[in-house]
Amino acid sequence: MTAHSNTCGLSQAQLDAHWMPFTGNRNFKRDPRIIVSADGNYYTDADGRKVFDGLSGLWTCGAGHNQKRINEAVSKQLSLLDYCPAFQFGHPKSFELAHRISELMPEGLNRVFFTGSGSESVETALKIARAYWRKQGQAGKTRLIGRSKGYHGVNFGGISVGGISPNRALYGQGIDAIHLPHTMLPENTFTQGMPETGAHLADDLEAQIAIHDASNIAAVIVEPLAGSAGVIPPPKGYLARLREICTKHNILLIFDEVITAFGRMGSNTGAEEFGVVPDIMTTAKQLTNGVIPMGAVIAKQEIYDTFMAEGGPDYMLELPHGYTYSAHPVACAAALASLDVLAQDKLVERVKTMAPQFQEMVHSLKGTQYVADIRNYGLAAGLTIESAPGEPALRPYQIAMKCWQKGFYVRYGGDTIQLGLPFTAELSEIDSLINALAESINELD
Ligand SMILES: Cc1ncc(COP(=O)(O)O)c(C=O)c1O
Repeated sequence: MTAHSNTCGLSQAQLDAHWMPFTGNRNFKRDPRIIVSADGNYYTDADGRKVFDGLSGLWTCGAGHNQKRINEAVSKQLSLLDYCPAFQFGHPKSFELAHRISELMPEGLNRVFFTGSGSESVETALKIARAYWRKQGQAGKTRLIGRSKGYHGVNFGGISVGGISPNRALYGQGIDAIHLPHTMLPENTFTQGMPETGAHLADDLEAQIAIHDASNIAAVIVEPLAGSAGVIPPPKGYLARLREICTKHNILLIFDEVITAFGRMGSNTGAEEFGVVPDIMTTAKQLTNGVIPMGAVIAKQEIYDTFMAEGGPDYMLELPHGYTYSAHPVACAAALASLDVLAQDKLVERVKTMAPQFQEMVHSLKGTQYVADIRNYGLAAGLTIESAPGEPALRPYQIAMKCWQKGFYVRYGGDTIQLGLPFTAELSEIDSLINALAESINELD
């Protein structure tokens, strides 16, 4: 068996056995990029190189890696209660955590359903939305509305309301869903923060309602800031307009805050930052600082109360839905500790303070060859890279690989490069990252 020099002695058979997610498996296994440890804002790879974490894991580890307070909480929980049934029984930490999360939410969002990931949060939210209308005696309200360029995870509901075509193309029929237009207008290229124009794009919802009728529509789901499509901040007034139309027509508004909740925007949630309150919010990722998989769906109390009122005898389930790992005790311990770290270290405030400097630094890449657009908000930014002929995803891949070689991890996806800095990043680290990115782009043919 052959072993690559930089893979901790893994054999080709071992490498081949793992069918990796969202990965070019053939390419990776020819030249693996193996990470063996992490501390603070850095990974160490199998060659012993330190690599700056320019995406906080996968938008997960804003508080940095190897956070002692989270590690200790996880370790303590493991020896106290490693698992307990999620259905019909409970443990103290899930209730404590649900209450803690509700305190971070905008007014009225205070009923928390736990999941194991962002994708599960999305499926849960879509199912709650449909079931809610049925409980309200409006069983016809089933249609779901997403948005072009939206990313809502990888399960069937999520890809159906999602609007990134390569994520849907292979999988045939999904769930009936329609899509609002995305908000990337050509006149808004290189806007710093929220674009001035584009609120009118929300009016397409009125047009969809005119075609399909609100009596058939359960919910609209959008990311307040679209992350995976390349960081697309909402135009000023856009989310408020969506809210207004949903309220007017009795349609639930779901914010998918899997990336934006718990600090990345410089507030506890995107809803708080952008001043618009949804009926249901989906979260995951930063909730546990990525340490243990976990998601949470937060619903308005009125939604929960409807299920309780219409639940039949009280020993019966009000919502036949849940996961074996819902409210996992170790995940709950990790989340409580992670939210403590955000509060104790004032990391959400830190994001807000750093955001203008990060904005200035990332926009200094304007004018670099192939950089066709730069967008940013909080500690998130996206670059659109001009396509190589017939190969829109090639240059971002080449740029990310060059950055990796220089000791910087950035995400590439479609025709974009994405940055999601640790909330603990120093200005000097951001400066080095931007320089490495500029060099990498300039090195392209
Ligand atoms: C907005 C949004 N929703 C859902 C998901 C899916 O989350 P997960 O990969 O944990 O299933 C993601 C992941 O990036 C996301 O960004």
